[in-house]
Amino acid sequence: MLVAESVAREAAELVREGRQGDVFVAATKTSAQDVVTAMDLASEALLRRRLAELRPEDGILGEEDALTPSSSGTWWVVDPIDGTVNYLYGLPAYAVSVAAVSSPDGTDPDPATWTVLAGCVVAPQDGRVFLAGRGRGATLDGRPLRVNDAQPLIACLVGTGFGYVAARRRAQARVVAGLLPRVRDIRRIGSAALDLCTLAAGGLDLYYERGLQPWDLAAGSLVAQEAGAVVTGLRGRPAGEAMTVAGPPGRVEELVAFLEASDADQDS
Ligand code: IPD
Ligand code: CA
Repeated sequence: MLVAESVAREAAELVREGRQGDVFVAATKTSAQDVVTAMDLASEALLRRRLAELRPEDGILGEEDALTPSSSGTWWVVDPIDGTVNYLYGLPAYAVSVAAVSSPDGTDPDPATWTVLAGCVVAPQDGRVFLAGRGRGATLDGRPLRVNDAQPLIACLVGTGFGYVAARRRAQARVVAGLLPRVRDIRRIGSAALDLCTLAAGGLDLYYERGLQPWDLAAGSLVAQEAGAVVTGLRGRPAGEAMTVAGPPGRVEELVAFLEASDADQDS
């Protein structure tokens, strides 16, 4: 937990300072909407440098660079800026996300099989630090976190997000259009890591998203789970790229059933 927190805090400071200068699109990835700034690259480089110094045997999986192999069975899964579009526009909902995971039998880290051991999500703009250790609870700035009690779906504030590719967005729009009349309201905060941490802190009742990558999910999923949330996929599968759903036991099941009936894990 200490390593996750110290490297995440250091990268968050770099990213926050970088926001004071000009921020522009350095490259695009899966589509014209999927952007990278120079700070995404600088933050990941810093995280990789520090983790290599502190934990030379561990592997690293990050959003912006190639996989570093692990000889210890432990991996660091890092998102140097989660919420890059918000960062680009000067909106505060962006974060640095760092998690330690173990993967079975030396396999590459995969949300379907990994165990998240520790996670830290730092929101550089306001300095919030979300921290969780497996079996040790989750905190925000040192205060314990607990998800909201299960409410009827119509009284639930539901977070979600959208991918960057047009076909997926069309399918996501269809699903959200079906859900909106059944819930209190929808929020699209723009950082999956902060969505999961916000849920842990009671700022959302439920969250779901299709298309999350390991670095979007790793630290935030542990924060949410340690705050009492169920974090799952559809059709009995674990949370991952096909679908991630999070919320309190006793309510998450209803959202899962709606998403399954809506084929929300399909792009058509
Ligand atoms: C994105 C954010 C966003 C989610 C996207 C992610 P990025 O991560 O987490 O909330 O909806 O699916 O790709 O690109 O800003 O690191
Ligand atoms: Ca991300």
